[in-house]
Amino acid sequence: MNPSAKEVILAPSLIAADWWRVADCVRDAENAGCQWLHFDAMDGHFVTNLTLGPMFLEALRPHTKLHFDAHLMISNPADYLDDFISAGADSISVHAENQPHLHRLIARIKEKDVMAGAVLNPGTPVSTLQAVLPDLDYVLVMSVNPGFSGQKFLPLATEKIQQLSHIKSERGLKFLIQVDGGIGPLTAPQVVQAGAEVLVCGSSVYNQKSAVSENVRALREAISGAQTLSTPA
Ligand code: DX5
Ligand code: ZN
Repeated sequence: MNPSAKEVILAPSLIAADWWRVADCVRDAENAGCQWLHFDAMDGHFVTNLTLGPMFLEALRPHTKLHFDAHLMISNPADYLDDFISAGADSISVHAENQPHLHRLIARIKEKDVMAGAVLNPGTPVSTLQAVLPDLDYVLVMSVNPGFSGQKFLPLATEKIQQLSHIKSERGLKFLIQVDGGIGPLTAPQVVQAGAEVLVCGSSVYNQKSAVSENVRALREAISGAQTLSTPA
């Protein structure tokens, strides 16, 4: 059963925000009813971009109750887990592609009562996570190749979300399905219908052409519109 539009978690991605006004951007997301904030940590090695670290979360933590979701696009996430956890991350996702010890990494995150996620790049099959799905709190399906905000949605992500949704109901698993990259009013409906429950939205929320409240409303409307269409009469 797909989540209703209201239940879909919206996670604005702060790398798309105006960092000169980041406090307002956080407040705008909170006032617009978004539930998570997505922090894209990039180290210039795993992806060819360099963004933020644990100190960024630490600075924002005391000022908002939003769920902090750290997406680690870094070569050695094991070295930084404790820093992100003490900085206030509520969930941490690591890429399956560069983790020979993924099972141990997930356990380390969970033992600190932080939600543990695994990330699949567009070219990485769902089968990669077969053994660890029961341990995961969420799976992040990349619908762009990681590194930058503002890229075009890759439709291959929709099928992977469907696969995960099918496995979840077949095996009675509890992980949330999160999607990240090029998500906006045009693409949100199809990923929610496929089973996505957490939508990371960078440029569709923080595009500075229209207010965050306006952008979030458009997303919610698009999602509920798709729900109405797909709900059996
Ligand atoms: C890309 C990041 C995404 C991205 C989302 O590597 O993981 O979170 O910032 O931005 P949009 O929604 O603009 O694609
Ligand atoms: Zn991300």
